[in-house]
Amino acid sequence: MILILGADGQLGLELKRSAAQRAVPFAALSRAEVDITDAGATSRALGDIRPTLVVNAAAYTKVDLAEIEIDAARRGNEIGPGVIAAACASRQTPLIHISTDYVFDGKKPGPYVESDAIAPLGVYGRTKAAGEAAVRAAAARHIILRTSWVYGEFGNNFLKAILRLAQDRDELQIVADQHGCPTSTRDIADAILCIAPKLNDETDLYGTYHFAGTGATSWHGFASRIIEAQTQITGRHPRVTEITTADYPTVARRPANSVLDSSLFERTFGFRARDWSKEADAITKRLAGKS
Ligand SMILES: NC(=O)c1ccc[n+]([C@@H]2O[C@H](COP(=O)([O-])OP(=O)(O)OC[C@H]3O[C@@H](n4cnc5c(N)ncnc54)[C@H](OP(=O)(O)O)[C@@H]3O)[C@@H](O)[C@H]2O)c1
Repeated sequence: MILILGADGQLGLELKRSAAQRAVPFAALSRAEVDITDAGATSRALGDIRPTLVVNAAAYTKVDLAEIEIDAARRGNEIGPGVIAAACASRQTPLIHISTDYVFDGKKPGPYVESDAIAPLGVYGRTKAAGEAAVRAAAARHIILRTSWVYGEFGNNFLKAILRLAQDRDELQIVADQHGCPTSTRDIADAILCIAPKLNDETDLYGTYHFAGTGATSWHGFASRIIEAQTQITGRHPRVTEITTADYPTVARRPANSVLDSSLFERTFGFRARDWSKEADAITKRLAGKS
């Protein structure tokens, strides 16, 4: 039985769907049911459900607002993961915890590997990095999956924002000097369900891995692909214009390069994410077809 925490976020919702589709037994708790910063509630949930694996899909993910809501970001991204890890450790239950490309500063010229030094640029990345450290300190049996540019059919994400804007704008101006790997929640859910049965007392698979969509692009490249795919359904084709980070100031700084090298994950678990562009086509067609 897998216990999914943060079950109403975009990844949590996808995990529930994927587990149900594959008849993998799971229990799922939203924030309203268990707040991961509440040690008593978290421990009781593990005691009642007795999962064989916990997946933490809960997090504070508002990158810009985090610069102001520092305490809330710390609670969701550092304290909560520490609480879950301690509860897992006391029951010898493995934990899969999700982290982010934003733990890096983006100055590396190539893709980031797991051993690269972290140097987060903002509160979100700093609190996520602290959450990783809290998980490592409390629970030996953990997998930390760092992923990036997450999108899917559920919740709020870049792909859905582009589809929304494309409905009534003739031009979209999108940042072209930040590069990363768009990753679908479907891929992350598949990756989690692929490694879940391999986690037991004897395995030496525990540790930190990068897992992201195959291939890399800029936000502009990502948006252009989404628009191309939706044009085939709606016929509308707004222009997608390149702008720079300097043209689009945000409260939080973002890494210019957050491309993740997922080859360690692929070698270790024999699983690779779909090509980001084909996956973006598929999700766009599904979503655009609905509207
Ligand atoms: N989104 C991205 O582009 C991205 C990129 C890299 C990594 N990640 C990581 O991927 C993971 C999943 O992110 P996501 O995109 O699915 O995020 P999301 O859609 O924002 O979902 C996060 C969920 O966690 C819940 N949550 C927040 N604080 C909680 C608490 N104290 N107790 C219980 N639940 C709580 C949220 O509830 P409320 O809505 O009520 O706050 C929300 O349902 C996170 O670890 C995130 O850091 C995301």
